[in-house]
Amino acid sequence: MANDDKHPHLAALHEKYDRLNLRGLWQRDVRNPPELRPRIWRWSEMQPILEQTLRDVRLPEDTDQRVIGLDVPGLSTGAVFISYQMINPGEKIPSHRHTPAQMRFIVKGTGAYTTSQGEAMFMEPGDLLVQPNWTWHGTTNPGNEPVFWIDIQDRNLVNYLGAFRRDLWPNDEVEPTVHGENHYATITGPLRPVSSAEALLPPVHFKWRDVIKSIAALSTNEASDPYDGKLFQYSHPANGGPTLPTLSAKLQLLAPSAQTQEHRHTGVTMYLVLQGEGSTTVNGTAIEWRKHDCFMLPPWQWHAHRNASKTDQAILFTVSDRPALEALGLYHEEGR
Ligand SMILES: [Fe+2]
Ligand SMILES: [Fe+2]
Repeated sequence: MANDDKHPHLAALHEKYDRLNLRGLWQRDVRNPPELRPRIWRWSEMQPILEQTLRDVRLPEDTDQRVIGLDVPGLSTGAVFISYQMINPGEKIPSHRHTPAQMRFIVKGTGAYTTSQGEAMFMEPGDLLVQPNWTWHGTTNPGNEPVFWIDIQDRNLVNYLGAFRRDLWPNDEVEPTVHGENHYATITGPLRPVSSAEALLPPVHFKWRDVIKSIAALSTNEASDPYDGKLFQYSHPANGGPTLPTLSAKLQLLAPSAQTQEHRHTGVTMYLVLQGEGSTTVNGTAIEWRKHDCFMLPPWQWHAHRNASKTDQAILFTVSDRPALEALGLYHEEGR
């Protein structure tokens, strides 16, 4: 046992603990705590791997979904689970629903749609699809090119709490489209049906073309946060709060030559570079990033961001488990 060499007089007692599946606090192995370091997945390395996966991993023979999870030692207990997913023309991913809530950020390709709770949502680069806990979703690609996206789920938290459940649509089918375009956006708009209970946790489709217009209209008058630049949240349409009860998605705008101050906070943050080039310094080490790169920041690490361009704005898409931490009274932040 890991630390028994420190306590030779307790060896016989520890054997009894083992038989009863017990463990003394003093038996913890504190010599090799997992080292929490940031990790970046560069698009220049990811794209060929994802393209090979599209060619080699067959649907449905090998798997029902080409999901490739980011697997980081020391980060696996964070709430946030990130994976890449791709679909070839002519393929479908059968509808299913699960207790992990999910967001889907489209990286590349057009022509595929995800049917979310009966509404077909066509996925274009930059779009964000939000599928709350227990939302039916299946994907179809009737187009003529592959579509790549990143799935972000609160799956690790759900598993940790013993709350995982999954349901499959009958016969491996994609559920039929029973609602018109923008159905859920309409029933969660300013005029709502009084009887509509389903509007409480609707699926949401943030179109990039609308998001970029909002940024243009709002960013001039928005003050810059000293640690994050100008921040915009993908708000929950029913209550204006975080994107999901557990996860929050934001856009972070860094002005030309911007250099933020250092801060650190609890929880895990994922960044996807949408536009520009720059670097994020984590505990004194700079991580250079450019478009489509994805990186993960472990909890409680000092970090600051820099836009390398003197002329162009940089835009980062970020997801964190801050709403879950805040709900539990576990969000802590400090600057310097
Ligand atoms: Fe799913
Ligand atoms: Fe931060």
